[in-house]
Amino acid sequence: MTAKLQIRIAIVVVLAIALLTGCSVHLPGQPSEAERWRAPAEISDFNQLYTQNCAGCHGVDGRLGAASSLNDPLYLAFVTDDAMRQAISKGRIGTNMPAFSEQAGGHLTDQQIELLVTGMRSRWSKPDEFKDIELPRYSVDETGPTSGSSPMIDKSPRRLPKLRRLRAALRLTRPIVRVATEQMAMADRQARSLIRIF
Ligand code: HEC
Repeated sequence: MTAKLQIRIAIVVVLAIALLTGCSVHLPGQPSEAERWRAPAEISDFNQLYTQNCAGCHGVDGRLGAASSLNDPLYLAFVTDDAMRQAISKGRIGTNMPAFSEQAGGHLTDQQIELLVTGMRSRWSKPDEFKDIELPRYSVDETGPTSGSSPMIDKSPRRLPKLRRLRAALRLTRPIVRVATEQMAMADRQARSLIRIF
C-alpha cells in the first residue's frame, strides 16, 4: 500500500465517522434548532409572531404599511392595552383588520396576543415623551367621513382622524407650553431677585 493510498483511506474513514455520528456536521439546508418548524401555537417570539401575522399590513417594524402604524409613540401613549387586545382578538369590523383569537376563528392563543401587546409596548412606546401631557381618553372615532350624510354607507370605526387631530393639537400646544414654562421660570427668577432687593 502506498503512503498516498493510506492517507486517502484515513480521510474517508474520518469523514465516514463524522457523518455517521453526526458530530458537528451541519448539512447544507438542514435547519438549526432556532429555525426548525414549530406548530403555530408554539411560537412565543414577538418578532416571529409580528412578522408572520402583522407586518404584511402594518409594515415591517410596525411602520410604513398599508394599515396604520403601530410603531407610533403617540398612538401607544393614547391607546390602552385592553383596546389593543380587543382589536387583535376580535378584529375591526368594517376594516381589513382580521380577528386573531382562537375564539373568534383566528389562530393565535391568548398568550400570543398578550405577547404582541406587551411586545409592541416595550419596543415602540416612549412614555417619557408624553409624561407632561394629558391625553384624552382612548376611544375609537365612530364618525366615518360619510356619516351624517349617509350613515348607512360607512359606519366603520376609525381612529386615524382622532389621532391626526390629537397630533396636530400637540404640535400646536407643545411650543406654547414650553414658552409658558420658560416665562414662568423667568418671572420666578425676577420675583426672587426682587425679594432679595427689598
Ligand atoms: C389584512 C391586514 C391586517 C393584518 C394582517 C393585521 N392588521 Fe391590524 N389593522 C388593519 C386595519 C386596516 C386596521 C384599522 C386601521 C385603522 O383603524 O386605521 C387595523 C387595526 C389594528 C389595531 C387597532 C388600531 C386602533 O384603532 O387602535 C391594532 C392594535 C392592530 N391592528 C394590530 C394588529 C396586529 C398585532 C396584527 C398581527 C397579529 C395585525 N394588526 C394584523 C389591518 C391588518
